[in-house]
Amino acid sequence: MPTKKLFLLPGDGIGPEVMAEVEKIAAFLGEAGVAHFEMEKGLVGGSAYDAHGKAISEGDMALAKAADAVLFGAVGGPKWDGVPYDVRPEAGLLRLRKDLELFANLRPAVCFPAIADASSLKREIVEGLDIMIVRELTGGVYFGEPKEIIDLGNGQKRGIDTQVYDTYEIERIGRVAFDLAKQRSNKVTSSDKRNVMKSGVLWHEVMSALHKREYPEVTLEHQLADALGMQLVRWPKQFDVIVTDNLFGDMLSDVAAMLTGSLGMLPSASLGDTDPKTGTRRALYEPVHGSAPDIAGKGRANPLAMIGSFAMALRYSFGLAAAAEQLSRGMADVLASGLRTADIRGDATSVVSTSEMGEAVLQALRKATV
Ligand code: IPM
Ligand code: MG
Repeated sequence: MPTKKLFLLPGDGIGPEVMAEVEKIAAFLGEAGVAHFEMEKGLVGGSAYDAHGKAISEGDMALAKAADAVLFGAVGGPKWDGVPYDVRPEAGLLRLRKDLELFANLRPAVCFPAIADASSLKREIVEGLDIMIVRELTGGVYFGEPKEIIDLGNGQKRGIDTQVYDTYEIERIGRVAFDLAKQRSNKVTSSDKRNVMKSGVLWHEVMSALHKREYPEVTLEHQLADALGMQLVRWPKQFDVIVTDNLFGDMLSDVAAMLTGSLGMLPSASLGDTDPKTGTRRALYEPVHGSAPDIAGKGRANPLAMIGSFAMALRYSFGLAAAAEQLSRGMADVLASGLRTADIRGDATSVVSTSEMGEAVLQALRKATV
């Protein structure tokens, strides 16, 4: 049985609650002889700030680099609204992405038929939806320099962020998108704002050239980011793989989340390049939702995005596609049986807690593995 090092960063708010459900599932896979997970835990976000005065300690950064995969919960909350910008909770997540070079963020938006009614859109628009948003994660306006507020000396200040992309950054995220499309419905929609941004002109140019040169058998479409936002809520099933930059990907993936019924349903994987020597790649798995401070500690959070993120870890980091499939099927079965957390309640008369939902998925997995 393989042994894998998992580094857990539950973070703030509902992070620890949803992570606890994944810990149980990981422990079960060990008992079942699928894989042994060595789990270590660290601090990130506000909880790291409280302990160390920064959003992640150097020790925890080192552990994250040494792990086979990092599982990340969520960060932030009103308690840390006033902390200095450089050590705000989100800085921990951004440092992990940058220092681990996790340039490819995969955000699958899948609508389980059982909860299609929880979406704010009509059932026929979202039922059976299966799209993959591939978001560039280490470049663009998130990290571009200069990034500052300067004093103009006349009572005015100027806030500056820099949107910047190099050819290689666009090519490598493009390859991730095209490779994924080949295993899916063979279509990529690339999105930018080339009508107003130079970085968008380059994005479009590089994607088109890459397509022509390396992936002519895949269908490539381009849509401006604003139009794509509109199409996502108009007729989302037209999409297979969407590839876009860091900022547009952030926004469009929140939109896509609501197509699936709730932000509490969307998992994600952030991947680095494959090391040609070892065949392994750095990876971090996190739900798309945030720390939801308003419901933290109440057992009301939906753990499925976190559990789904662990399923992605099984698939993309550990080569355990069968276990990943069983876990996903377990989640679908539990939803089909009518179990609902508050966020996906729909017409349900009763809702279950975070741990009841986690336990039900574990039971479903248990049944599938015996
Ligand atoms: C996300 C989040 C993060 C982002 C925040 C927490 C920094 O919104 O992962 O989508 O903007 O990337
Ligand atoms: Mg976001």
